This record gives sequence, C-alpha cells and structure tokens, in this order.
Amino acid sequence: MNLTTRATADQGGQQATPAGSSADDSRAELLIRYLGDFAPVVIESAKGSWLRTRDGAAVLDFASGQICSTLGHRHPRVVNALHEALDTLMHLDSKMLSEPVLDLADRLAHSLPEGLNRSIFLNTGAEANEVAVKLAKMFTGNFEVVGVARSFHGVTTGTASYTFLPARRGYGPLLPGAHAVPAPYAYRCPIRHCAGKCDMACLESGFDQVQQTAVASPAAFIVEPVLSSGGIIVPPDGYLSRAKELCEEHGTLLIVDESQTGLGRLGTCYGFQHDGVVPDIVVLSKTLGGGMPLSATVTTSDIEQRCADNGFSHITSHVSDPLPAVAGLAVLDVVEEERLEERAAGMGDYLMTALHQLENKYDCVGDVRGRGLLVGLEFVVSKQDPVPAEGMAARVAARCLERGLSLHAIPTGKKAHCFRIAPPLTVSKDDIDFAVGVIDDAIAEVCQRP
Ligand SMILES: Cc1ncc(COP(=O)(O)O)c(C=O)c1O
Repeated sequence: MNLTTRATADQGGQQATPAGSSADDSRAELLIRYLGDFAPVVIESAKGSWLRTRDGAAVLDFASGQICSTLGHRHPRVVNALHEALDTLMHLDSKMLSEPVLDLADRLAHSLPEGLNRSIFLNTGAEANEVAVKLAKMFTGNFEVVGVARSFHGVTTGTASYTFLPARRGYGPLLPGAHAVPAPYAYRCPIRHCAGKCDMACLESGFDQVQQTAVASPAAFIVEPVLSSGGIIVPPDGYLSRAKELCEEHGTLLIVDESQTGLGRLGTCYGFQHDGVVPDIVVLSKTLGGGMPLSATVTTSDIEQRCADNGFSHITSHVSDPLPAVAGLAVLDVVEEERLEERAAGMGDYLMTALHQLENKYDCVGDVRGRGLLVGLEFVVSKQDPVPAEGMAARVAARCLERGLSLHAIPTGKKAHCFRIAPPLTVSKDDIDFAVGVIDDAIAEVCQRP
C-alpha cells in the first residue's frame, strides 16, 4: 500500500493528493511572516490526529498543531463544551468570575500536589510565564531570573530575556538580570564534562557562576521538565529535585514551565512528578486548552497572599474568560478518564523503539531521545563525525510533509538539525507505524548514505 493510499484509507476513503503539491496562495503575501516561510499547504479541516488540506490531501499531525492538541484536533468533549458555552457565556469584565473559571481552579488545585492551589487563567504560555516571574519578583523582592541555556519560555520581551534560543536575537536589549545555567545536554555536553550521561555538573557550576555574577539572590529559576524547543533535551533523573535544593539554598523560587509537558505528554500528569519535586510556581498553557488559547499560572497561598498584599496586578482583556475555561475542564476530564499519561508512556515506548531502529539504520541519525510522547531526533554529519548536520532536519521534515506527515524541525541554531515528534496522546499504533515509515523514507532520500 503506498503512503497516499494508506492516508486516504484512514480519512474515510476519499481521494488524497500528496500534501506538498498544494498550490501556494497569493493572499499569503498579505501576512507578516513570523517564522520564515509558511508551510506549503493550506489546511481546511482537522480531526483527531489528521489534517485535511484544501486540495484534499491527508496529513498526519505529529506536531499536535503547535503542541496544543494533546487530545487530537476537535476532540468531541472539547467541541461540545464549547458549543454549550457559546450558547451561554463567552467573555466577562475581567473582575467577574464564572462557574467554569471557579471549577477549573478547583480541578487544577486537586490535580496538582497539595499547596499549589492558587491559579490565574490567561491565554498564552508567554503570558503565564510573565505572571510566574512577576509573582516571584514580588514575593522575593529580588529581580534576577535564572534560566537554562536552550530553553524556550516565550517571545514577549520579558520571556525572551530567559529564552536562550535564536528567538531572543535581533531586537536590542532584553531585561537586565537574566542568567543562564548550561543545558543538561548529555549528547553535546556544553561544559565538555560528560559523555552520554549528564551528572548535573552543569547545574552545580551554573548556580556557582550565577552566585558570582548576580547582584542579589535571583527571584526565580525557570525550567522546562524536558527542554523541548532546545532539541528535546531530557535532564537526568533528579535534576529538578537538585534544582529545588539549590533554589532553597538561595531563597529563589522554582518555576516549572509545563507548557508543552503538562497533562500527560511525558507519561506523568505533570513533568515535575518524574523527580517527585513540588515547584513553587507551575505554568500550564498549550496542552490545557485542547486547541483553545488557555494558560494558567498556579502557585501557593503564601506566595499569592504576599503578592496580593503588595498590590500584585496583571489584568488582561481575556484573563478569567469563561470560554477557554470550559475547554480546559473538558481536557482535564478526558486526560483523567482516558488515563492519557499512561497511554503516552506506552505509545512513547513503542515510538522510541521504532526510532532507535532508524538510529541504527542511518549514519546521519546521531541521537534519538525523549520521554513519553515528546521525542527528538538529532541529525549529524556521520556517527564518526557527529557534528550537527545543519539544515537536515528541515529537509527531512519537508520530505515528510510531502508524504503526508507533519512534524517540527526545531530552529535551535541557524539551520535546524533536530526535529520534534509530539503526536496527540490519543495516537494509534497504526498511525505511529505510518509515521515511522514516512520518516524512514524521508531520511533515506535526504541522507542518501545508510
Ligand atoms: C515551554 C514553553 N513555554 C512557553 C511557551 C510560549 O507559549 P506561547 O507561544 O503560547 O506564548 C512555549 C511555546 O512554544 C513553550 O514551548
């Protein structure tokens, strides 16, 4: 069965044409390009793990949209909840509360470790990180923020200050007081210390360095459980617990940014649970809204109280909006009822096993790594000369799209050499088999040398 036929069968037997043949649309020239060229397809509809282009081609979405469609596109529970809300309540004065918002705060407090029981609901991950850092600054009375090199936390000026990836460059000064510790990147140890397995010397020496360069104790250390946009860098076990100890030594709050990882993707409901640590502040976004713009910052009563006493303010047009909140409630229902974290762990193992076969098969696949259903693949010139194969991830991802599979080449440097595989947690084994077949063919075409 050729790939196009297979994709067609899964989409109900309608005729599909290869995705890459979709015609360009001159109206795209009316848009500001925010990440280079747009994809060469125009999407008409989406359901579950599949997209359908305007030309009728089926595309398997192993990027979950922008990592938001954890339940697949247009999950019926999310759609029904939204329909109901559209008939009752969408938006309010930002100081007015509604049943969905109160309910979502209650549900999150119960799903998080005891003590993390104060939420604010916003729309994007950057906004929620801004709030997290503002809370930390107001609570501690300090202003410096420590991040991890190769992390992504958003592109607003505040969050770009501790986003240590190319997205921060080109716009002049960012906020003062942003520090970085080296990434726990075992495959290419940034401090030339480990080989293959990170022993956290990067974290220890990074905190020492910050001690020497900061003007006061930092307000916050902000970290992703897995550095996703930095190349799917998986910290070693115990990384977050050691980070928490170091934070406590310095009176610094630990912010865990679960924008991509929260609600099951890593095989646990929250990524920080892997290390059994309880952060001071948790950020949720992408995965919380099931495709709707919904994010949350959650903290403790103590932190909330001191900040409220000090006059904390963060009013936005859509803070506490009821419409996205109902989507969040539906997402929490489905994640819990379908035990999607367990599913992510199982499907992640299945996917990883198949990708390790590609790693063995191709000289240009230097590393395959990940946790649960957040998986990365790093291209190298060759296994003997494992320098990054600049641009190869983008070329492979383009070939995949032509064959009906969407995944992200991650712009960690000038030209992408890693890509990210992050399907909906509801993905089937058949879809994983299809995707791995497409990736195999695309690598064969681009890398040429087995
Ligand atoms: C870990 C992480 N935090 C924050 C953000 C920013 O979220 P948003 O694009 O919704 O502002 C992203 C976006 O990719 C992210 O991956």
